[in-house]
Amino acid sequence: MVILITGASSGIGRKLVLYYLDRGHTVAAVARRKEKLAELYLEAPTQLGKLKIYPADVTNKRQIAEVITEIEKDLGAIDLVIANAGIVHQQLTANLDLEAFDRLMQTNVMGVFNTIVPAIEVMMQRGCGQIAAISSLAAFHPIPRIGTYCASKAALNYQLTGLYWTLKPYGIDVTTICPGFITTEMTVGQQVPKNWCLEIDGAVAKIARAIAQKRRLYCFPFWQQQLNDILGILPDAIKGFVFNVLIEKAFPRPNFFNA
Ligand SMILES: NC(=O)c1ccc[n+]([C@@H]2O[C@H](COP(=O)([O-])OP(=O)(O)OC[C@H]3O[C@@H](n4cnc5c(N)ncnc54)[C@H](OP(=O)(O)O)[C@@H]3O)[C@@H](O)[C@H]2O)c1
Repeated sequence: MVILITGASSGIGRKLVLYYLDRGHTVAAVARRKEKLAELYLEAPTQLGKLKIYPADVTNKRQIAEVITEIEKDLGAIDLVIANAGIVHQQLTANLDLEAFDRLMQTNVMGVFNTIVPAIEVMMQRGCGQIAAISSLAAFHPIPRIGTYCASKAALNYQLTGLYWTLKPYGIDVTTICPGFITTEMTVGQQVPKNWCLEIDGAVAKIARAIAQKRRLYCFPFWQQQLNDILGILPDAIKGFVFNVLIEKAFPRPNFFNA
């Protein structure tokens, strides 16, 4: 298979690149940091012909469309796109940071669609292909401090679910992956307590399995999904206590200045 993975310079994306290369697939790796992408060549020396890096910004619609054309020319028809690039923002002041909101929507929502729409166009001509996107369990509840991130992932889930049904008759599968916390630059940067985080190799294996099974929606780990479900049915008075007391206790406010 020829697989395009965005956000390939670190975390989940980087591990997915190595996972698929190990299994003999051809991978196009996309992210902004060229030097981090180039490290992949050193990490997978035996699969050199199977890997090509494409430094690009997913928020730049024209640039990412050109990358897709280039990949099809360099590596052949893209079978699978994994739109994984994403960012997070913790709102530590009471009022909404509009610039952060714009950045998150541009990256986590438009960045995914800037990537998948041109890929879907070529897949529709061929009548086959698969789109997968890494969303988050955060898509299911607006949680204080990361409400902006939740909003971006909720928008992503809605649009992808619509696409799942729309593209089925065209032979294109759409898979939405919603992980809980995983140890990556993202969670380390946000100072998420380690005991909430899954280790990355196991998480990537689960993601790859759900993609291979062409699942419509895959949420994990089970216990974090269950917590989410419980949160959903709590009356507001109890929810307020959970948000204002329990979550503040479980996730102490990061001090980015001392990080
Ligand atoms: N870690 C978790 O607990 C967790 C949980 C649920 C969902 N997720 C989701 O999983 C995805 C990957 O996150 P991660 O944990 O692996 O974080 P990470 O280590 O910070 O990786 C994020 C990746 O996205 C890329 N990226 C960000 N903005 C980009 C842009 N404008 N254009 C191109 N690439 C861009 C970054 O590369 P450059 O900076 O080089 O561009 C990087 O490779 C995200 O969508 C995240 O929301 C993560």
